[in-house]
Amino acid sequence: MRIDVLTLFPEAMSPFTNASIIARAQRSGIVDIRYTNIRDFATDRHRSVDDRPFGGGPGMVMMCQPVFDAVAKVEREGTEQGGLVSGPTRILLSPQGERFTQAVARELASQPWLMMICGHYEGFDERIREGLKPREFSIGDYVLSGGEAAAMVMTDAVVRLLPGAVGDEESVEDESFSHGLLEYPQYTRPREYEGRAVPDVLLSGDHAVIRQWRHDESVRRTRERRPDMLGEQPNE
Ligand code: 6GU
Repeated sequence: MRIDVLTLFPEAMSPFTNASIIARAQRSGIVDIRYTNIRDFATDRHRSVDDRPFGGGPGMVMMCQPVFDAVAKVEREGTEQGGLVSGPTRILLSPQGERFTQAVARELASQPWLMMICGHYEGFDERIREGLKPREFSIGDYVLSGGEAAAMVMTDAVVRLLPGAVGDEESVEDESFSHGLLEYPQYTRPREYEGRAVPDVLLSGDHAVIRQWRHDESVRRTRERRPDMLGEQPNE
């Protein structure tokens, strides 16, 4: 998979993608993550990428031209040199987007090429949406000062689903959200820590019983913490 991130702050993102699972996935060729600074496409002497909103109001709006030019260059080079035939799945990061979920992460993980466009200031000129027809995602109901943190979240969630990125494939299958339940409690050595013992069932060696216990604990935890995931009303 190739991921292009178009941002005003590439230096804020690269330390993240150069660490841990994502770094390993890049080294082993599972993913190729590239950054493009939208400001490099500014044309005036102040290198402007934003301007005041028509109609007045606070803040600044991301201008069309630098964004369109950055998208065009990245797509041209990716298609010519990267050998990617059909263009990227274009993604705009904004609080107004569709909610990014594990189901979306799975869908995006099946694409060969993603392009994430991060905005700052009060938002994007609406003609960027009209012209690029991107998917638009938000990572939750709160406002971030820019799309970069959201792009990092989405990159992490997607890359770890790529075959070979996480050592043990089963750990990806088993975890919270992939079956619509939160994960069951886990324990490791020692068997007893400061008077707290590991549940006996996990030491029983009876795998059918362990599987049942874990399922029951998942349901209990989900009902307690996230009843919405079971289609139930929230707890008091
Ligand atoms: Cl994707 N962008 C911004 N600026 N704020 C957000 C968001 C994205 N998702 C949640 N809040």
